[in-house]
Amino acid sequence: MARHFKYVTLGGGVAAGYAAREFAKQGVNPGELAIISKEPVAPYERPALSKGYLFPQNAARLPGFHTCVGNGGERLLPEWYSEKGIELILSTEIVKADLASKTLTSASGETFTYETLLIATGSSVIKLTDFGVQGAESNNILYLRDIADADKLVAAMKAKKDGKAVIVGGGYIGLELSAALKVNNFDVTMVYPEPWCMPRLFTAGIAHFYEGYYTNKGIKIVKGTVAVGFDADANGDVTKVKLKNGSVLDADIVIVGVGGRPLTGLFKGQLDEEKGGLKTDAFFETSVAGVYAIGDVATFPLKLYNEQRRVEHVDHARKSAEQAVRAIKAKESGESVAEYDYLPYFYSRSFDVAWQFYGDNVGDDVLFGDNDPASAKPKFGSYWVKDGKVVGVFLEGGSAEENQAIARVARAQPPVADVQVLKEEGIEFAAKI
Ligand code: FDA
Ligand code: NAD
Repeated sequence: MARHFKYVTLGGGVAAGYAAREFAKQGVNPGELAIISKEPVAPYERPALSKGYLFPQNAARLPGFHTCVGNGGERLLPEWYSEKGIELILSTEIVKADLASKTLTSASGETFTYETLLIATGSSVIKLTDFGVQGAESNNILYLRDIADADKLVAAMKAKKDGKAVIVGGGYIGLELSAALKVNNFDVTMVYPEPWCMPRLFTAGIAHFYEGYYTNKGIKIVKGTVAVGFDADANGDVTKVKLKNGSVLDADIVIVGVGGRPLTGLFKGQLDEEKGGLKTDAFFETSVAGVYAIGDVATFPLKLYNEQRRVEHVDHARKSAEQAVRAIKAKESGESVAEYDYLPYFYSRSFDVAWQFYGDNVGDDVLFGDNDPASAKPKFGSYWVKDGKVVGVFLEGGSAEENQAIARVARAQPPVADVQVLKEEGIEFAAKI
């Protein structure tokens, strides 16, 4: 017998937690909303896994970082959900979604029906075993997406204390995890194929700082090559990483961060897709009425740039969830909400450095400030100028006011008469907007 709910959120991550809070704000009756998640815990702030969770001392642990503490909000403990009559259906993987009959089926054969569905399944990691890399199934070759992965990593760090770590990938996971392993006293080497780290956002000038900073911290960086194989000992534990350039690195732990894939497979052929995600309107409703997609899986209209985009960052996961729930509730009462008008916001931090980025990294980049990795107090940034207007801003080491200023600039898109003046003014330009 199927269990029926008015609203079902499929997935129990960041977007699910913020959607639940918004449902509670807007008014939801006990028994109306269920969150179905394959994870065994209530929604939490996923970014903590690559940061506080890995601290050598006073590491973050649940229940400390359940949503919605990420931007200073209320922490929704499991009790909060039961008080509100919101069902947390945990450790339950949905393996079939039939949108025509509005039915979800779990791995153990339970069925759930709904009137409105919010798809919040997030992303899965791309694995080296997906490409058949030799030896990639060895022990201690690790990935990081959820608490179970983070616990495996913490156990491996304990078992291989003060050992050698090789980090494969030079993106977000690569940069945050190599720092985390270094702070845990590992001998760290990063390997990535591109000429500089985080090429999907960083310019050569930005990367120059972080690569120098990491090198000064004792992290070795091997660029322009990839891992093509691994050796393991008699226990199956990884011992060596073989690179395409012919060199071989010793390793007790390997962490792989070579990107993610949005989890849309359950809906193949049932929903329109675009740019790898589920296509939505400005209210996150998909091509099927009453079915919404939020967070990493949604390809939505980014009004500011007049194009469909998918965004894999926490700020959008939170805001898209709130927008979808407001739109659902407004529709029920015959009202409407404004279209989603998102300003892209990404951030990262490691060691003593922290950056923020707002807007779009297209057009010509204009580096400003002091990006010398050896500086005592590094502070620099980059503007992106397109069609004579500033469209994106990156800032390392900004104060709260300066970070607010760069957000205002990216939103306002002020004209730039002379890029040389912009370069010289640096953050002062943003402070004036
Ligand atoms: P999220 O991945 O949070 O949740 C998806 C949920 O759905 C999971 O609980 C999953 O188990 C569940 N699920 C999937 N398929 C299912 C199925 N078939 N049945 C049942 N449940 C299913 N961003 C940022 O801006 N700043 C940062 O510092 C970081 N840091 C960071 C660190 C790490 C380690 C990761 C992995 C990611 C980040 N991010 C980030 C990215 C950010 O966390 C991400 O964009 C959001 O978590 C996306 O939220 P969603 O709710 O869409 O997916
Ligand atoms: P990513 O897309 O940021 O980086 C992937 C990197 O993999 C590329 O930059 C490249 O260097 C590398 N790469 C690709 N193929 C490779 C290969 N064969 N060998 C070696 N390197 C290879 O993805 P990620 O770092 O894996 O992050 C996964 C997800 O988690 C993303 O959605 C990301 O947004 C999210 N995340 C975000 C943050 C943040 O916003 N601060 C932090 C952690 C994770």
